[in-house]
Amino acid sequence: MDLQQLCQSVTEIARSAGAFIKQEAATFDRSKIEMKGFNDLVSYVDKQAEAQLVNDLQKLLPEAGFITEEETATERGETYNWIIDPLDGTTNFTHGLLHFGVSIGLMEGDEMVLGVIYAPMQDECFYATKGNGAYLNDRQIKVSDAPALKDSLIATGFPYYDFSLTQQYLQVLGAFMATSHGVRRIGSAALDLAYVAAGRFEGFFEYNLNAWDVAAGAVIVQEAGGKLSKFTEGGDYVFGREIVASNGNIHSEMLQTIAQHWKKPQP
Ligand code: IPD
Ligand code: CA
Ligand code: CA
Repeated sequence: MDLQQLCQSVTEIARSAGAFIKQEAATFDRSKIEMKGFNDLVSYVDKQAEAQLVNDLQKLLPEAGFITEEETATERGETYNWIIDPLDGTTNFTHGLLHFGVSIGLMEGDEMVLGVIYAPMQDECFYATKGNGAYLNDRQIKVSDAPALKDSLIATGFPYYDFSLTQQYLQVLGAFMATSHGVRRIGSAALDLAYVAAGRFEGFFEYNLNAWDVAAGAVIVQEAGGKLSKFTEGGDYVFGREIVASNGNIHSEMLQTIAQHWKKPQP
């Protein structure tokens, strides 16, 4: 499998779905929002973008299976599986905030080997394949070289449907506010990871995430020289529902900051 060649085709597929989403953003109105659950928004744009992605990716690699947010395709492949979020940042999209992206990861066995995240409004395509570095459009990207948390800008996601851990989350948030350049919540976990890879954020942490939010971003951060874990060292940060991504230099400071307040029992 020539992953780099495959990745080139996947960027084209992501760009094409992104062009559809961008076109719909111009006329989208909130009457078209559907609710999947409490505060869990979706629309025809998410669903059609996913159908297009599944159709294109199926042609590209017929033996691969799928894990997708909107469940257009559910069959798993023996070796290869695409992990797809057709529109990461749906709440932004439906409110006319132009920060969202298409996220496509490829898993070989249990390992993520390819990631593409395309932000159509900014025309920014982040991509990486295992062992070949990370790129933004035509330029190679690297994580920031900031040495310490006190020199860092941190991204996160706020809880929005399960508030059982909000109090301890707010304590972690407060600790990061007091020890970094600041904290941002800009509404797309995939792009938060891409921005860590590009050196815009030094770190990102969030819990209650799904594999499709982080699969592509994890490869891109890794290949940009960053580090990933769960809220404690190691762990399955793609399927484990919580993630810390950083430039590496600040990773242990981030884990320590979280550990001071995060008392959730580990499964
Ligand atoms: C969401 C975004 C958001 C994060 C949520 C995700 P969606 O994905 O990534 O930043 O905080 O946890 O569910 O629903 O827009 O695809
Ligand atoms: Ca998502
Ligand atoms: Ca989504």
